[in-house]
Amino acid sequence: MRIALGVSGGIAAYKACEVVRGLFKAGAEVQVVMTRNAERFITPLTLQTLSGRRVLTDDWDDPDAVVQHIELSREIDAFVVAPATANVLAKFARGVADDFLSTFYISVTAPVVVAPAMNTRMLVHPSTRENLAALERRGVKIVPPGSGWLAERETGAGRLAEPDAIVEAALAAARRSSALEGRTVMVTAGPTREAIDPVRFVSNRSSGKMGYALAEAAQRRGARVILISGPVDLPPPFGVDVVRVESAVKMQQAVERHRPEVDTVFMAAAVGDYAPVAASSKLKKTGGPLELRLEEGPDILAGLGAHKDGLLLVGFAAETDDVLAYGQSKLERKNLDYIVVNDVSRSDIGFDADDNAVTILGRGREPLTVPKAQKSRIADAILDHVFASAGDA
Ligand code: CTP
Repeated sequence: MRIALGVSGGIAAYKACEVVRGLFKAGAEVQVVMTRNAERFITPLTLQTLSGRRVLTDDWDDPDAVVQHIELSREIDAFVVAPATANVLAKFARGVADDFLSTFYISVTAPVVVAPAMNTRMLVHPSTRENLAALERRGVKIVPPGSGWLAERETGAGRLAEPDAIVEAALAAARRSSALEGRTVMVTAGPTREAIDPVRFVSNRSSGKMGYALAEAAQRRGARVILISGPVDLPPPFGVDVVRVESAVKMQQAVERHRPEVDTVFMAAAVGDYAPVAASSKLKKTGGPLELRLEEGPDILAGLGAHKDGLLLVGFAAETDDVLAYGQSKLERKNLDYIVVNDVSRSDIGFDADDNAVTILGRGREPLTVPKAQKSRIADAILDHVFASAGDA
């Protein structure tokens, strides 16, 4: 595993030593790239000694290094920047390439992780917040800064995250396999929104976290992933093609459009079963009760199950009682290969929670119970189980 570590000019630059050491201990090859300002806080020699490799600095007089940084961008499994100053974040967000580190960033296609560190006032400034949001939307992982004693002799948010957390995020971003190479997987995620009128809608509490975790996990295993997403507040997973939709009908159209490209579908979205007949202009108060008539919409999953043609089809079921019995009947009724069932009557798992606990039912397979864990781990367990029978995992 090869990881490039960018170090920019802030007092926290000295903590990059711990990050190099942690990555090195985990067996990664580390190539350090430093800005000129970082060299004011820590010498390249220190990081070179720890990483065992020549550090790339902002030295345009060295033609070897200029070529090397473009080559390096092709070879790395992840690029992590710690500390990332407000200036570096602004340059990354806008694509400014006026030194080695920023030029390197816009040539990297591997996952990127940034660990910001700066004074609290700079961190909360709208420009920094916008830049972080722009990077996150692009799939960059942010390791959020902590609060504590800052170099300016005051306490506040902006302190570089702990080196261990940065190492862990970098390793997670770099870790991938080729087990699902050649497969194209479609994942649906999040709620749907059914319009009542131009400003109101009917929706549900799905956060999209489970579907996004699945999309990310499948991409890490080398699959091409198409994520059809309802309205959620989550950054797109790295390397995944995201198609955004609102209503169940639009989700169905997107699913059908991409259906010929895919061999597997994970239908994790909480699709609204009923939709109002939307009013074309905003409804006004009448002084009396308002009746909404809901009409049944498409069942996307049942539609896929009715014409499977070799598609590997995985449904999800959120139930509050008789969880396994309802799951089993949906598996059969919708002609699925697997159904992932979870009990949404528990408030610590399921909808909107970071954790989940599921049982995976499959045709001709013993049910597999996955105990409570982070949704990323549940996603891995689902992929392991579903693809084990198909020969990959
Ligand atoms: N689903 C779908 N289209 C719908 C409703 C659900 O594709 N209109 C999919 C979901 O994405 C999920 C599975 O079907 O993978 C189970 O959803 P659920 O709503 O629990 O199934 P229903 O058959 O609608 O059962 P219920 O009677 O419990 O609502």
